[in-house]
Amino acid sequence: MKALEALYEAHKIAFNPFVFETAYTMLELGILEAIHNHKREGASIEELAKETNVSEYGVRVLVEMAEAAEIVEKTENGNYVATKVGYFLLRDEMTRVNLYFTHDICYNGLFYLKDSIVNGKPEGLKTLGDWKTIYEGLSILPGRLKKSWFDFDHFYSDNSFDDALKIIFKDSPSRIYDIGGNTGKWAIASTKHNKDVNVTIFDLPVQIRAAKENIGTMQEIKDRIDFQETDMLDATSEIPAGADVYWMSQFLDCFSEPEIEAILLKIRKNMSPDARVYIMETFIDNQRFPAATYSLVATSLYFTAIANGNSKMYSSSAMKYIVDKAGFECVDEHHLHGDSFHTILELKRK
Ligand SMILES: C[S@@+](CC[C@H](N)C(=O)[O-])C[C@H]1O[C@@H](n2cnc3c(N)ncnc32)[C@H](O)[C@@H]1O
Repeated sequence: MKALEALYEAHKIAFNPFVFETAYTMLELGILEAIHNHKREGASIEELAKETNVSEYGVRVLVEMAEAAEIVEKTENGNYVATKVGYFLLRDEMTRVNLYFTHDICYNGLFYLKDSIVNGKPEGLKTLGDWKTIYEGLSILPGRLKKSWFDFDHFYSDNSFDDALKIIFKDSPSRIYDIGGNTGKWAIASTKHNKDVNVTIFDLPVQIRAAKENIGTMQEIKDRIDFQETDMLDATSEIPAGADVYWMSQFLDCFSEPEIEAILLKIRKNMSPDARVYIMETFIDNQRFPAATYSLVATSLYFTAIANGNSKMYSSSAMKYIVDKAGFECVDEHHLHGDSFHTILELKRK
């Protein structure tokens, strides 16, 4: 990279929040949609102002920043059209889920990233609520914020469930423990997938309450799902014996390496030697697309500044190292295909 290009890149970083807020504001005010609707001829500032009820001044400052950031570009007659980047901001579901998660959950809290690193605590969490970790408040976040968090979480896990079900049910389990089962999506999917299986959801009280509400009216499955309020970080909590499968989806990334080891040891303590533990994660070293790796390393900083202050998205090699230390053997590694970014590690007791 030439020095002038590097200086330009450095400036993009220095002004990065301006670009982010411009993209967000243009989506929210319908300006990007309006530009896109004009197709190849593009739209003038005056047209956009009229169509979106935003002042010409407002449209102009946003569109000029968006042009510099290559979200829109000018046609020969001076109108604005959306670029491919603009198109993805507007229409790509994953981009939108990431953008709204960043805006609603992370943006204010990231201001405290330095303090979080220095103090080893999620100092940005105070922008959302008065909790020790975000998990104490997930299901009681205010409406729009709750939607953004759950859209983000579910977008990634939901896309993997079909493939994951095939892997987990290959040995016909009769009881699954879903640890960190959240609002019950996996429990619902697996009890619908198999008419005989029973599932117990382990999670914090606030999520268990939400899961009970979700599942309570589902006549065909509700009798096969149990709920267990459990804080996996509490040294006195136990995971009882009795499961054929211990399922942890996007769960262990919520903890530090020593905490993951302690959780695995807790599971190992009472599990039968024939049972299997499945860990489904988006590992940073198992991604096919640079956008995915970029999203994951960014998500680590959400854990640092907002969620809990001490966890991250892990590489599969780091996870396998902890798994081994906790007395498990990784007997298989399933790479999910299609729209999924996940890997499932299949473990048994050593
Ligand atoms: C990122 S979500 C994953 C949810 C779900 N398994 C999925 O795949 O979408 C992590 C879940 O772990 C739960 N959790 C976090 N800390 C916990 C703890 N100390 N004990 C029990 N559950 C916890 C959260 O409440 C949340 O439901």
